[in-house]
Amino acid sequence: MIPNRRRFLGQAARSLAAAPVIPVGRLAALHAPARSTEARTVADIAPQDAWVARARAEIPAATGSVYFQTGGIGPSPNAVMATVMERLDFQNRGPADPRYATDMARVEPDLRTQLARVFGAGADEVALTHSTSEGISIVAWSLNWQPGDEVIISNVEHPANVIPWYVLRDRFGIVIREIDLATGTSLIDEINAQLSPRTRMVSISHVSRNNGRTIRTGESAELGDLLRGRGVRYHLDGAQGPGCVPTDFGALGCDCYSTCGHKWLLGPKGTGALFVRRERLDDVQLSWAGSHSHATMDYAGNYSLLPGAARYEFGTRALADFAGLARAVEWMEGIGLERVDRRIQALVGHAIEAVEATGALSVSSPRTRPDRSGVFVLRLPADCDPTDLYNDLRDNAGILASPVRQPRDFRLSIHFFNTRDEIDAAIAAISDRCP
Ligand SMILES: Cc1ncc(COP(=O)(O)O)c(C=O)c1O
Repeated sequence: MIPNRRRFLGQAARSLAAAPVIPVGRLAALHAPARSTEARTVADIAPQDAWVARARAEIPAATGSVYFQTGGIGPSPNAVMATVMERLDFQNRGPADPRYATDMARVEPDLRTQLARVFGAGADEVALTHSTSEGISIVAWSLNWQPGDEVIISNVEHPANVIPWYVLRDRFGIVIREIDLATGTSLIDEINAQLSPRTRMVSISHVSRNNGRTIRTGESAELGDLLRGRGVRYHLDGAQGPGCVPTDFGALGCDCYSTCGHKWLLGPKGTGALFVRRERLDDVQLSWAGSHSHATMDYAGNYSLLPGAARYEFGTRALADFAGLARAVEWMEGIGLERVDRRIQALVGHAIEAVEATGALSVSSPRTRPDRSGVFVLRLPADCDPTDLYNDLRDNAGILASPVRQPRDFRLSIHFFNTRDEIDAAIAAISDRCP
């Protein structure tokens, strides 16, 4: 364990020292002695990808390893870290001093407005959270569940969208039903097969972390209409959405959408948001509340909640981190979210071809747009263990990827900052280990 970790850190350190921009070409080149930065910039990147080189140079983890783990946790650009540190320092000069506190007080409303603009919501429909899981739990606990009430989830969910339902099952006797969201099934047919008069909630992933399947915006809107007509609440787990696939809360037609800043948006760890449709705010009831959830209160038992989704927030919060998320979204917008999407899709297209060329590996995630996403999943040969492969790639090749739920599936989270050469190198390394 320790020698492996040392070896990995050593490799990462060598890569960092060697390459502020794309250290690719062959995996071996990642760990080769340093060439000059200038020579690398010109030689290793196609001219049309110069913007990628510039962006990569700002993300330490993108050049410190071969980073295919954005679906687990995303690396932040230096600008984001600088903002967090600067804001923390600024706030600390006088947390209760109006010279500093007034500025810091703008962070949350400004971030709500920004997220609303970028992801198709109203500012009053955005609650700031610390993770996707927090948003999911706010939604899961927002109903007065009765024994026998049903929730529909899918077979490709992250534990964050499973555990709350297990807890509610054990506490209130709710029934969990499951649809099959393997690549190629029909979402609407699957839901129709599970809907019953007892269904009260549907909670599924916008983009699955297990098979990368993206719920199409149109089919999501159709599902939203269907569920609204039956009085069933519709929640999307969007941990893998914003920054990975085009995400428009309004167009998706769901009631609630939970997401985070610390994956594809490259924001600080422990930042997130919950979007709640304006007309659902009073139905999505609070389970936790506190100071800042309220608009008015007295000590005689009276209170009113904030009119918007900010009512789901309470207590003193990490404003510097939220400022960092605002900077991350701004940074991504500076690159262009559409450009990010086009590049992710181009890289995934390349990964599909590269996997197919191996013969031994196959593609498990959707192969066509708009179902596919940067969550690229390949299927390993029968005798190859994904966890052993993950450890081996991390410790011996400096490649960070991830096993997922299906026993033979292995995930490469492909973000815009990855390169074709990194994909080729990862697939070659996997092929070598799993012939
Ligand atoms: C689909 C999905 N939902 C929820 C989560 C949990 O996210 P968070 O750490 O933001 O709570 C993840 C994390 O990987 C995820 O992939």
